[in-house]
Amino acid sequence: MSTLATTVDGLKFSNPFVIGSGPPGTNVKVIKRAFREGWGGVIAKTVSLDSSKVVNVSPRYAKLKANDGKEVIGWENIELISDRKFEIWLDEFKAAKDECPDGVLIASVMEEYNQDAWCELIERCQDVGVDGFELNFSCPHGLPERKMGAAMGQDPVILEEVCGWVMGVSKLPVWAKMTPNVTHIEEPTAAALRAGCHGVSAINTIRSVMGVNLETLRPEPTVEGYTTPGGYSSKAVKPIALRMVMEIAQLIKKDFPGRSLSGIGGVETGADAAQFILLGSDTVQVCTGVMKFGYGMVSNLCEELLEFMEGKGFDTIEDFKGASLPYFTTHSELVRMQTERKAEQAAAKERANMVKSDAEWDGDDFVKQSDALSR
Ligand SMILES: Cc1cc2nc3c(=O)[nH]c(=O)nc-3n(C[C@H](O)[C@H](O)[C@H](O)COP(=O)(O)O)c2cc1C
Repeated sequence: MSTLATTVDGLKFSNPFVIGSGPPGTNVKVIKRAFREGWGGVIAKTVSLDSSKVVNVSPRYAKLKANDGKEVIGWENIELISDRKFEIWLDEFKAAKDECPDGVLIASVMEEYNQDAWCELIERCQDVGVDGFELNFSCPHGLPERKMGAAMGQDPVILEEVCGWVMGVSKLPVWAKMTPNVTHIEEPTAAALRAGCHGVSAINTIRSVMGVNLETLRPEPTVEGYTTPGGYSSKAVKPIALRMVMEIAQLIKKDFPGRSLSGIGGVETGADAAQFILLGSDTVQVCTGVMKFGYGMVSNLCEELLEFMEGKGFDTIEDFKGASLPYFTTHSELVRMQTERKAEQAAAKERANMVKSDAEWDGDDFVKQSDALSR
């Protein structure tokens, strides 16, 4: 009998499905709803100490549609971290844990390049009973202007220093959330893990411009006639997310065995989740999917993932985590293997062509024929 229950960094998840930081975890009401619907964990919307510095605009989303506009496959947002007061968040974290003690509640946090601010943020959140932290080093818009988010995530030296501050005060599991807006995601990942983080989450959104309105000639989403590049998510980013998850998982396997990985990006089905786990994820986060389909989608996710596991005879998530990683290699190795196989096939064909029926054998034919018949 397969089970979806899994323990990661000491956190007990009833299933590997975790709400990714964003609108689906934006206050205590929706966090409780997510737990009631059966999500294994919730990563709340990112919080910082001073929400008065966070000012959102609208519209702040733009969608890429396929199938004659029937299906959303890509989603851009220029939304910032939470603009709700930190003190209110602390009360809500406590209330969520009081009412749903079995749900894993992870606080997503972000601050400026200031040790005192990071330490205060961590200590005050852990005092109210959250189960773990996700450090947001990855928001690609707005916050980098204050040297936060992706601006930190793109600088491994700063990232390692900030993770070190956090690890100095946190008593809870800590995941560092990676930005995909870098050339080699292994570099910031290694920096976070060297600093002692228990794991990493990947990916946040990909810096993007959704499009230009051909009537007004203005880029979208248009705010007061202008826009700013935002973060791209949803189904369309899954192949990029899978590639980065694979690269991180290979690094963890080689240099940081035992550290955890939370895969994120375009997950909408149990099959999507199975792929993230096969490439090394311990848990799988969903953000835009919940904005498209609602919290209830978790029952399909669980059903589909269990069906996959039972079909393949996997009892636990651990049984197939990373099972597809050995099948990546270099392009030159693909060429070598293919050339070798083609040569073997040609030789086999030649041998097969030479085989005649016994009745046709003549003279010394049997010498060649015996050779053709041997393997
Ligand atoms: C509207 C919106 C707001 C988001 N806000 C946050 C945030 O506050 N903190 C964060 O770490 N990630 C944030 N994200 C990123 C998601 O958590 C996730 O990493 C990304 O969207 C890719 O996953 P998905 O395709 O399942 O959405 C946000 C995403 C969206 C679409």
